[in-house]
Amino acid sequence: MRVSDAVNSRRSMRVFKPDPVPKTVIEWIIETANRSASNGNLQPWKLYVTTGKARERLSAAILAAIDTADHGPGGEYDVYPKEFAPVYDQRRKLVGKQLYTLLNVPRGDTAGMQKQFRKNFDFFDAPVGMILCVERGMGNGQWIDCGIFLDQLMLLAREQGLHTCPQAAFSRYQHVVRRELKIPDNQIVICGLALGHADPDVIPNSLVTERAPIDDFTTWYSA
Ligand SMILES: Cc1cc2nc3c(=O)[nH]c(=O)nc-3n(C[C@H](O)[C@H](O)[C@H](O)COP(=O)(O)O)c2cc1C
Repeated sequence: MRVSDAVNSRRSMRVFKPDPVPKTVIEWIIETANRSASNGNLQPWKLYVTTGKARERLSAAILAAIDTADHGPGGEYDVYPKEFAPVYDQRRKLVGKQLYTLLNVPRGDTAGMQKQFRKNFDFFDAPVGMILCVERGMGNGQWIDCGIFLDQLMLLAREQGLHTCPQAAFSRYQHVVRRELKIPDNQIVICGLALGHADPDVIPNSLVTERAPIDDFTTWYSA
């Protein structure tokens, strides 16, 4: 597979088949992603990989926390800025509208939206659920490094015929993730990552999100 094929075929998938992923394949993806560039070669990423009963226990613990209104202190970082410029607000609303239209969840259907939100914590039924963390004292540079590492995991998954969904939703219930996976206090939960065989035939997985033209964000200098 060419790099561009991996990039162009990567999409956030939200329905997975139960087919297991061999541990050797997961190891290969992590081992290869570990070649990611990082500022000063710090390699600041910390990864927690759950499968089988451990993945089920993590999912069950978070869903139980939601059901008992144990929302804890919430995420330890702002997934979005407090205020958006209109262009970003429009993009976020558009993708939300496109996804919920495919899911057949009409605007204002709070129960339907909550049902979809909960699916995050089952890793959308993917057999592999990962949690990406970084040490608390690390700066923006190391968060960039973790983002690069996350992307490499997603692209390498494509080479193995697998799909992914990155999931910041897990940062909201980091108190439960931390307890279940015994994550040290000096690490921040960045996000989850569902990994597995996506179901190609279901409507939610047909979403191909839009991108702005490159001239919207690229400035050229040549003379
Ligand atoms: C760091 C990060 C966190 C995300 N968190 C979630 C999430 O919690 N739940 C979800 O359904 N999608 C999540 N997404 C997926 C985005 O919605 C998706 O990447 C975006 O709409 C672009 O679509 P694409 O990934 O299919 O290209 C996340 C993406 C990133 C990069």
